[in-house]
Amino acid sequence: MQLELSTWCEVEDYLKTRKDIIIPIGSIEQHGPMGLIGTDSICPEVIAKGISERDNTLVAPAIKFGMSQHHMSFPGSITLRPTTMIALLKDVILSLTNHGFTHLFFINGHGGNVDSTKAAFSEIYAEHSFSKNPSSTHFHLWNWYTGDRVKAITEKYFKDTEGSHATPSELSLSFYAHPDKVKKADLSQDVSKKDNFRDCFDFRNNFPDGRMGADSSLASVEIGKELFEGAVEDISEFYKSFVIS
Ligand code: NI
Repeated sequence: MQLELSTWCEVEDYLKTRKDIIIPIGSIEQHGPMGLIGTDSICPEVIAKGISERDNTLVAPAIKFGMSQHHMSFPGSITLRPTTMIALLKDVILSLTNHGFTHLFFINGHGGNVDSTKAAFSEIYAEHSFSKNPSSTHFHLWNWYTGDRVKAITEKYFKDTEGSHATPSELSLSFYAHPDKVKKADLSQDVSKKDNFRDCFDFRNNFPDGRMGADSSLASVEIGKELFEGAVEDISEFYKSFVIS
């Protein structure tokens, strides 16, 4: 069940029996010469839809912009400042909790979002603590690429060619979601194994074609399908305990 394709009456009915909702969260940033700029948003969105098709969980529209300042030396990347992202997340969360949602499950596609998202959760809880008004809200942030099944698939196919950005696993999943947008590119440029960076200038110096230790050429729609099924299974298993927490 997609929030943006529902009526308010359908959401009101949903809230009579359930208080949980999934919010995909991603980024709009370069993913190397082969990767789609929307990769980090496309991956959590397709997984969220897969979960919803199983048990009719309500899925909010994806928060597609994320904290991607370090990718700003590559055309097409769009970033929020951390403070903007925290403010955006707080407003989305407060909108949903005002309607009665108590269990908000964020499926994240971008490591750069983690700090700002957890800061937004802490801001909400701090307001409850200062106001002496206990919170009934439960948050969980799940990075889709960290589940056991997903990690096993990644290890099986990619091992140390997975890297940490423009990875063959995230490209595979995005290509599974959009098989008509599979890209090819010259990846002959050496790819750095470093994993540290500061601003976008430093990032481009360290990672000239945008990849971080990743052999994107190994990505395929078929592996993407396996990753999709593994991620839906990983999250569905955990989600059962989350909604009764
Ligand atoms: Ni990514």
